[in-house]
Amino acid sequence: MIKAVIFDLDGVLVSTDVLHYKAWKQLAEEIGIHSYCEADNVRQRGVSRMASLEVVLEKGDKTYTEDEKLAMAERKNNIYVKSLETLSAADVLPGVEEFIKYIKDRGILTAVGSASKNAPLILEKTELLSSMDAVSCGLDTTKSKPDPEVFLVAAKKLGVDPELCMVVEDSDAGIKAAKSGGMTALAVGAAKDNSEADYSAESLAEVDCEKIFA
Ligand code: BG6
Ligand code: MG
Repeated sequence: MIKAVIFDLDGVLVSTDVLHYKAWKQLAEEIGIHSYCEADNVRQRGVSRMASLEVVLEKGDKTYTEDEKLAMAERKNNIYVKSLETLSAADVLPGVEEFIKYIKDRGILTAVGSASKNAPLILEKTELLSSMDAVSCGLDTTKSKPDPEVFLVAAKKLGVDPELCMVVEDSDAGIKAAKSGGMTALAVGAAKDNSEADYSAESLAEVDCEKIFA
């Protein structure tokens, strides 16, 4: 029986995954890496800012100091946060509102479990914050997905055992994190073919809720 659903944010609730990609692409061009592309961005889903930077840098042949890497990550974040200025409830992905209503009507708790340190800002701008019983994000954790930490923190904040939580994820790292945390996993979008997931769907609009929650 599922008592709580923990949602990844970028690419599950909000279309910010595209904005992450555009910001990394701009940074990559600025530092002379022209081969960084959308396929590389798939590997950045769910992983921390610094780990995502490594995905960009491995497309080039230069080595950088830790301070240089921190400056590049900050530059990317500034580009990304600027692109969030116009973010609104209109950027919430199809099916999200209905899915949240469906589970809340059945007394199931809700949380966000996101690697992003910008999660609180995004939840506020998209008006999703009030729909969540707890938020666990990059500001609460030290280990990046596929470590289960971000989801275990969410479960703890909700007061629900991990085995009674279902994670919704669009990244392979996130599905691995959910399963190693002992949770049920629903894969959507880019992760929909992940064989480790318990359930999959193209998006939250296509989930067979009766099958999962009956
Ligand atoms: C995840 C994204 O949600 O957040 C990753 O899928 C991103 O691509 C990570 O790197 C960290 O985000 P932020 O906003 O803290 O840089
Ligand atoms: Mg995601």
